[in-house]
Amino acid sequence: MINTLYKHTTLVKKLIVLAICGCSFAMNAQEKKLNSKKPTIDYSAYKADKVEMNRKIDSLISVMTLTEKLGQLNLPSSGDFTTGQAKSTDVAKKIEEGKIGGLFNIKTVEKIREVQKIAVEKSRLKIPLIFGMDVIHGYETTFPIPLGLSTSWDMALIEKTAQMAAMEASADGINWTFSPMVDVSRDPRWGRVSEGNGEDAYLGGEIAKAMVRGYQQDDLSKSNTILACVKHFALYGASEAGRDYNTVDMSRIRMYNDYLPPYKAAIEAGVGTVMASFNEVDGIPATGNKWLLTDLLRDQWGFDGFVVTDYTGINEMIAHGMGDLQTVSALALNAGVDMDMVGEGFVSTLEKSLSEDKVSEESIDKAVRRILEAKFQLGLFEDPYRYTDKERADSEIFTSVNRKFAREVASQSMVLLKNENNVLPIKRSGTIAVVGPLANASNNMAGTWSVATPQDKSISVLDGIKSAVGKSAKVLYAKGSNLSYDKEFEARGTAFGKDIPRDGRSDEEMLKEAVSIASKSDVIVAAIGEAAEMSGESSSRTDISIPKAQRDLLQALVKTGKPVVLVLFNGRPLVLTEEDKTVPAILDVWFAGSETGDALADVLFGDVNPSAKITATFPRNVGQIPIYYNHKNTGRPLENKEGEFVKFRSNYLDVRNEPLYPFGYGLSYTTFSYKNLSLSTEQLAENETLKISVDITNSGNYDGKEVVQLYVRDLVGSVTRPVKELKGFQKIFLKKGEMKTVTFELSVEDLKFYNSSLEHVYELGGFEVFVGTNSEENLNAKFELVK
Ligand code: BGC
Repeated sequence: MINTLYKHTTLVKKLIVLAICGCSFAMNAQEKKLNSKKPTIDYSAYKADKVEMNRKIDSLISVMTLTEKLGQLNLPSSGDFTTGQAKSTDVAKKIEEGKIGGLFNIKTVEKIREVQKIAVEKSRLKIPLIFGMDVIHGYETTFPIPLGLSTSWDMALIEKTAQMAAMEASADGINWTFSPMVDVSRDPRWGRVSEGNGEDAYLGGEIAKAMVRGYQQDDLSKSNTILACVKHFALYGASEAGRDYNTVDMSRIRMYNDYLPPYKAAIEAGVGTVMASFNEVDGIPATGNKWLLTDLLRDQWGFDGFVVTDYTGINEMIAHGMGDLQTVSALALNAGVDMDMVGEGFVSTLEKSLSEDKVSEESIDKAVRRILEAKFQLGLFEDPYRYTDKERADSEIFTSVNRKFAREVASQSMVLLKNENNVLPIKRSGTIAVVGPLANASNNMAGTWSVATPQDKSISVLDGIKSAVGKSAKVLYAKGSNLSYDKEFEARGTAFGKDIPRDGRSDEEMLKEAVSIASKSDVIVAAIGEAAEMSGESSSRTDISIPKAQRDLLQALVKTGKPVVLVLFNGRPLVLTEEDKTVPAILDVWFAGSETGDALADVLFGDVNPSAKITATFPRNVGQIPIYYNHKNTGRPLENKEGEFVKFRSNYLDVRNEPLYPFGYGLSYTTFSYKNLSLSTEQLAENETLKISVDITNSGNYDGKEVVQLYVRDLVGSVTRPVKELKGFQKIFLKKGEMKTVTFELSVEDLKFYNSSLEHVYELGGFEVFVGTNSEENLNAKFELVK
């Protein structure tokens, strides 16, 4: 069963495709002749042994017609069909004719088996298909949206989420995911910050590696591992004004230092595929950018997997102004694209381009080879049905074991932004008012890009709280407000089956009911914020505050004088200046996945002590954007820490420079004190390792985890350097009263950066080290890097 979001997305995208490409599959005479002569190729002995694999691929390519070759480069979206009916679809005919290399957006073992059977029994060369899907943050068992997951700063946990997603997806027929998305972004207006890991290139790189390891493990041919796809290459997170698909323009030095490292980390971790991004890079769309896809990706970084476009990425180059479909398809192939997602520019134009010498057969063969290699590595030639074991599908997906793990992950990804007077944790007694348009909205808990999630089975806030308290407390519920006063805005933000039906009552009536139950309660839990589709693809916002209807509700609740806990739903950093001033406790739950409600209850009632820390800066207002912790100092920095305006310094007349919540920030129910920062030397020689240690004590009343963060500032450089850069982190557990010494090691490798000639170098001289609980509160010390 495919959920509604999925169908909708596919439908909308299909319409776009129809509008932008008029492509057809014509079989030429030579191919018609060949089609009747079916070579007998025995794939049974094919193993992913490299030499053997190359030999087999050579012989396969040598018997392929041009149509069959171009077919391997073609990745249409399957469209939905009823089980048992695959053979009567349009797609089936194309598969039979060898005109399709893989499919995506197809769910269930039965359906996947059906189409695979057509490929390996009916097509001339019996080449198996590859099956892709956007398995982004879990499959049916759904983890927090990637931005939320990144706030756990727990690489082992993150890796395990990807591994579990691979296990579930592969049990359902999928062998390729379009993940991890590692686009660094400094702009919370961009809706897709929800899909990434925040603003830091180093942390983003560590997460990229963990995700790739999780999906692919050490052997792609295992039936429970899948091929990963790092995306969107490159710089998609820097679209101007945060408007999706918009122009990107940045200096190479910024690119190399701040935006490229996570993609490179994924390549180094062995990611099998790369997706080209929609945006332009240096004036050429990524999909047609040879510098990006060949010179950098393959020649400099040594990537040897295949490159797929994003959805209709080739066709969109027409609107970018790069030429007609034939021109842009040739441009993409020549730039280094191997597989064409959806647009069918390759299958419909490359034959003509070949006859006009605009592309070479060698380039086509190279692309075909890379796709066949991936199929070999996945073990599909040995057994095309490797990922379609019905028994696995029935027993390994959305299991209680997996959901238990997802609950743990969700609680590790909730950030405590404020907790005045220790409002949290709350007690399982008395009366609890649960209020807000997101309190009883299970279909919104998984967040954006959760195409396989059974939305109705996700645990809502209300259900989580109710089952946690049982009979020991009374739970009252009121919706309190609609998501927004603006119906049309609300409809846009609740698309794809994630609607939160508008209440027929007036705003006043709803508010009155909420205030009335709140007044009868001991504590108020307000589930408020963005709906799931208010972030994600094509969900940019210029006003990133909580919609006014909900802000009004929140203030009315605060006015009751009862303690209010704001349980915040959001796919991006929001502007929370007003809430930070007025609401005593704020717990950011992002969209925590299928187990949101239970995990939230674990945190609210203190069974889990929150330890997550934000990975993207929360601004005070939209005007501060782009705002990020690792900025440069400028020639006129504002040195006063009180934030007072100083004429002719780099600051604003109307708002202070610092963000509301800095990168790395997040509270705990306990407190941690940092003492005794010490460096093993103040004069570090190039061949030495610097040891940095600090004593951390759990000085509060709860056991808890702390993310200890290490930042470095390069004080003088041949190019200007950021005021701080994350260089390491450790997540430690301390019992109440316990002290631990945490030690970091730094070598010249960690001090390297790209200089103005784009060489990766370190430079001798002074450095400052910062260790602390977030990017702003830390202890510091200095050392000198010497010869
Ligand atoms: C998105 C990709 C996604 C692809 C396939 C595109 O619109 O940009 O992230 O993988 O669709 O669904």
